[in-house]
Amino acid sequence: MNTPAAGIAAQHEAVSPGTGSASDAPAPLLELVGVRAGYGPIEVLHGVDLALRPGAVVALLGPNGGGKTSTLKICSGLLPVASGEFRLAGRCVNGVDAAALARLGICTIPEGRGIFANLTVRENLWVATGTGTDLARLEEIAYGRFPILGKRRDQLAGSMSGGEQQMLALSRALGTSPTVLLLDELSMGLAPRVVTEMYDVVGQLADEGLSILVAEQFARAVLPIATTAALMLQGRVVRIGDPAEIDRELSTSYLGGQR
Ligand SMILES: Nc1ncnc2c1ncn2[C@@H]1O[C@H](COP(=O)(O)OP(=O)(O)OP(=O)(O)O)[C@@H](O)[C@H]1O
Ligand SMILES: [Mg+2]
Repeated sequence: MNTPAAGIAAQHEAVSPGTGSASDAPAPLLELVGVRAGYGPIEVLHGVDLALRPGAVVALLGPNGGGKTSTLKICSGLLPVASGEFRLAGRCVNGVDAAALARLGICTIPEGRGIFANLTVRENLWVATGTGTDLARLEEIAYGRFPILGKRRDQLAGSMSGGEQQMLALSRALGTSPTVLLLDELSMGLAPRVVTEMYDVVGQLADEGLSILVAEQFARAVLPIATTAALMLQGRVVRIGDPAEIDRELSTSYLGGQR
């Protein structure tokens, strides 16, 4: 089959995530090459280059307005590419809409988590059955990974703690068996201890083979589990590399006051 989905599946089977050395590193699953995009006449991404390899966690860092969310929107098909290329498994997918990208295994947890506050935990999981997984399986995945959600199954999502809501958002995402997870500001509104717990889960998901691109303003939260860090400033990735190295650089430069 000559579709991007088949390409992703084949690539996923052909490479074992995390085993490649610099010389035989697996090819990117998701790649942005010179991507420019904007809102109306205003360009906000000015040639973004980024690569996400199978099983990797790429932390997209940078201050307010740097273009992190816009970059994630390109990857989920919510913001059109004006020029440059968005590639999945080596194939250009410019112009492929969000629903089609979701079917190809791209799953987004937006800033604010995207859950329905006035629905119960169970009802929120039921909404995710639209992607083809049945409710029993979604509940099994959710309550298996986060037992607290099982206890809260009939509670309105909006009345749960921020951490529990984020667990629900992650559960809904995992129920769709994604290949790529896009996370925007996981730490938003959460206590530091909960942030650490949530990023531990994200690290486990990557160990299980999921490829994760996470935008995060607070570098300290995500760097311990990141395999690569990319720093975005004014619509460009200005630095990409080893998380520990970038952590050291950040403590003396751009985000010094925000870590
Ligand atoms: N819907 C929109 N319409 C017009 N301009 C937008 C829109 N969304 C974002 N922008 C602009 O695009 C630029 C990049 O914003 P973006 O939200 O991608 O940054 P960010 O790095 O995610 O910031 P933050 O850390 O505050 O979430 C900003 O200048 C912002 O004002
Ligand atoms: Mg943002």
